[in-house]
Amino acid sequence: MTKRLDGRVAVITGAGSGIGLATAKRFAAEGAKVVCVDLDEESGRKAAAEVGGLFIQADVTDEDAVRAMYQTAVDTYGSLDITFNNAGISPPDDDSILVTGLDAWKRVQEVNLTSVYLCCKYAIPHMQRQGKGSIINTASFVAVMGAATSQISYSASKGGVLAMSRELGVQFAREGIRVNALCPGPVNTPLLQELFAKDPERAARRLVHIPLGRFAEPEEIAAAVAFLASDDSSFMTANTFLVDGGISGA
Ligand code: NAI
Repeated sequence: MTKRLDGRVAVITGAGSGIGLATAKRFAAEGAKVVCVDLDEESGRKAAAEVGGLFIQADVTDEDAVRAMYQTAVDTYGSLDITFNNAGISPPDDDSILVTGLDAWKRVQEVNLTSVYLCCKYAIPHMQRQGKGSIINTASFVAVMGAATSQISYSASKGGVLAMSRELGVQFAREGIRVNALCPGPVNTPLLQELFAKDPERAARRLVHIPLGRFAEPEEIAAAVAFLASDDSSFMTANTFLVDGGISGA
């Protein structure tokens, strides 16, 4: 594998599972020094050991923890070149606006959107000092299209991630900091498996709408993240990058 990320220091949130884990492995294979951040100690520690990186247990909704995790990455490895702000949670079982309560709504915004705000806020100053950096924020295909399955709190949180990525991409472009939003379609990860285990019909309904006729594997998303992290995407910023099997184009 080409080492497009040789010597780069990358922080990945939600690195213990699914897309984050696959990306940690891909980044390491491409030569990066990987800092694996997760709330879950067991899976995060395992991921870090697997990629020969550093584990930091942190809740990405906690401002002090987010500030500290970037400082630790820089203190340990000397720079911060990439942050993949990816940790997230799925919506409540019935996420229709007529059902979702305010507490559930707030929790989804906190984990999926406020966390990305905090990660960008505390990663950017390090990147400004270096005059370069690549930020990739995980949104979702539901940020650009309505889902018949009705995911109001989740879609809104991911729409916020898109808007924030665009805004920051424009604001910090002249300082060499690129910010892009990644929009995966349905990906075969524990997050999706749990959702579909509760409602198997939902999986079948979703599958019908994917032109490629299957769910993505996490490695296919990781390949796109590695591209956005690397200089191969050097002219891309403030961009919405869809990796969705054609679902949003159908
Ligand atoms: P996953 O559930 O497999 O992994 C998420 C990881 O984030 C877990 O290791 C979990 O412990 C960690 N995490 C959760 N809350 C955290 C917190 N407060 N602080 C630190 N870590 C925390 O999920 P998956 O599928 O890999 O999802 C990753 C991202 O991709 C999420 O933002 C999700 O919304 C998004 N996404 C997923 C899709 C899918 O079909 N799986 C589709 C589109 C977007």
